[in-house]
This record gives sequence, C-alpha cells and structure tokens, in this order.
Amino acid sequence: MEQLKTPYFVIDGPVLDHYMDMLKTSLESSWGNYQIAYSVKTNSLPWLVKYVKEKGAFAEVVSNDEYLLVKYLGFSDGEIVYNGPYKEKGSFRSVLLEGGFVNMDSVREIDWLEDIVSENPGKDIEVGIRVNFNLERMCPGETEMGRTSGRFGFCLENGNFDKALTRLHALKGVKVRGLHLHSSSKSRSVDIYKSIAAMACDIKKKYDLDLSYVDIGGGYCGGLEGRPEYPDYFPEIAKVLGRAFDPEKTKLIVEPGISLISKCTSFVSSVYDARDIREFRYVMTDGSRFNLDPTMIKSSYIYEVEKADSTDRRILDRQIVSGYTCMETDRMFTIEGGEELLPGDKLIYHNVGGYTMSLNPLFIQYFPPVYVKDGDEMKLVRRKWEPKDYVAGTME
Ligand SMILES: Cc1ncc(COP(=O)(O)O)c(C=O)c1O
Repeated sequence: MEQLKTPYFVIDGPVLDHYMDMLKTSLESSWGNYQIAYSVKTNSLPWLVKYVKEKGAFAEVVSNDEYLLVKYLGFSDGEIVYNGPYKEKGSFRSVLLEGGFVNMDSVREIDWLEDIVSENPGKDIEVGIRVNFNLERMCPGETEMGRTSGRFGFCLENGNFDKALTRLHALKGVKVRGLHLHSSSKSRSVDIYKSIAAMACDIKKKYDLDLSYVDIGGGYCGGLEGRPEYPDYFPEIAKVLGRAFDPEKTKLIVEPGISLISKCTSFVSSVYDARDIREFRYVMTDGSRFNLDPTMIKSSYIYEVEKADSTDRRILDRQIVSGYTCMETDRMFTIEGGEELLPGDKLIYHNVGGYTMSLNPLFIQYFPPVYVKDGDEMKLVRRKWEPKDYVAGTME
C-alpha cells in the first residue's frame, strides 16, 4: 500500500458501519420507536456528519455554528435536535417552528419562547425540557460532576423544573412533548442509563406528562474490551422505560458520539527525532497530544508501534513520547523497558474518534488529513489544511 505522509487520522469504514448497524439493530429490537441524533460536537468532520445522515440519523447540535454546519450539510430543521445552554434565538425559532426537537435549557429560552408564541398566534409549538437531577445520588461515584451538580437544564431538586413547567404549561399553543436527561458519567455503566430511564418514568408520573419523546442523551461505551456495548444498554433501558411509557406513543431519542466513532478511528504519527537530555530520552513525533487529547485528561493511550525496519533494537529504560509543538506539556506517555524508537517508526493510536478531530488546534501545524479506509483503499475525506485554508475569511 502507498505510504501516506503522517500525521493523519484514518476512519475504518467497515468498522464504522458495524457500530452503526449494531446501534440500529439493538434499538430496533429494544424500542422500535427510536431516533438516533448524532452528537455533532463529538466529531463534526463533514464526511461523518453526512454519513450519519445517510444512515437515517438526525443531528444533535449545541450551538448556532453547529446548527449552521448541519444545515449546510443538508439536514432540515425537522432533523435537528437542538440542545445545550448556548443556543441562538434565530435558530431556536427555526427548529421549533419547523418541527425539530428543541430541549429547553434555561429561563432565557422560555423568554424567547414567549416572544415566539406571541409572534405566531394559533400555532402549536412542541418543546422538550432538559432535566437536571442528582444522578450521583442514584449511582454514587459514577458521575462526572460527583458531589457538585451538573450545569445544564432545570434543577429538579430546587423547584426550578416545576417553575419552568408551570411557565410552559401557561403558554397558549405550547405543549411539553419531551424530556432530555443526558448526563455525563465516568463509568458509562448500564446502571447509569437504567437510572436515567427510571428518572424519566418518575417525572412523567409525578407531573402527569403526555410525552412524545424521551431523550436519554449520549455517553455510551463502545469498542472497549470488557465494557458495555449497545446491546447491553438498550434492552435494559427499554425494560425500565416500559414501566411508564408505551413505544407506540413515545419515541426514544439517543445521542451517541464516542461510542459510534471511537473504535473505528486511528491516528498515525511518525517518529522524526530521538534525543537525550540529561538522563531522559525524548522521542519526538509528528503527532501531538493536542491531536489526541486536546482536553488534557487522558492517562493512557491504546497504541501500537510499527518499526521502520526489522533490526533488533537495544532496550531503553525510559523513553518519553512527545509531540511536535513547542509546549513542554506536549508529552503523551513514557515507555519503560521498551525497544528504542527511531526516526521513521510509526506510532498508531487507536480509539481516537471522539473529541479529537473537532477539538484539534490550528497551532504550529494545521489540521491533519483524514482518510476513510475500506480494505486497501484509502479515501481522502479531508485534505491537510494549508495556509490558504487558515487565511480564508480573514481581512487584508
Ligand atoms: C447533550 C449531549 N448529548 C450527547 C453527548 C455525546 O456524548 P458521547 O460523545 O460521550 O457519546 C454529549 C457529550 O457530552 C452531550 O453533552
């Protein structure tokens, strides 16, 4: 196969298809009335966004820019789930009036809705509402926010959710049609989703809501040895939801990101230099931590080494694998007691599809290319960015 210039991302097409099929099949058999809304922020590569559209997914967006991107890529307003605390009134209005899914996140959005109702007398408008609830109490130690609270949606415990519902119910023509319960967790366990589903049931009963959808959000695991996969989550979620909801009447919305695209995505980088400084060996690579871990939270990487030749190498006590930037923090990991890495060797990182490509910096080196692989064929779906891409949109 032709040697491609590193660094680059590569998406394995058949593996992506496999995860998409697994997602659809397990939803189909668990809760036939479902809608996938792909989490655009997780990886907004245009090829991928179009791929999920072709597979029947809607787009889950959390900003006006993401809204404009998915519109540009061919989604109608009715195929958009609009979430998050940073909406804009214009796109909020369009998605609401054109039959998309808007999950209200704040009081300022209720104010906007009041304006939209008065501008559109006689129009029926359906909205969803994001619930902020104490998931940590239900699944101790498993949530990302731990004992502090999440920042999104209306708080159930302090009465703000009640107040929001009261305001929404008072608006003529407005119907609360959905609940949004996405919660980020560290564990991504099946129990997290059973608790989210149980909360949806409790809220429906407590407030006597007639809901056409329950959106349980994203945050699932996928492609990790010994961790849950889609067929572990959805039958359990369906069992719990079935206590209060009927699939004939209520759609299950899911917003996968990482679980769909992590496993199929790798990042290929090369060693270009190895240097000794005091007792430390630094292996310099043309991939950066900013390509792989832009939020600087990773403690380990799934990677393999492809040596440039088959010579035996000496074993080194410690090699610090680093990136190409001038930041001292741009170090990925340390190899203890491994074969010496030399220029021309490749380091290939796996499971890197989520929160990488769309969070990559334009710092020192522009966006790397992205290929989609199918067998021996490598299709270029984003070329390497060049200065002309960087200056596009700037003024003389
Ligand atoms: C509202 C919402 N939906 C979906 C997702 C996607 O999560 P993931 O990429 O972990 O599946 C997120 C991520 O935080 C989110 O905030």
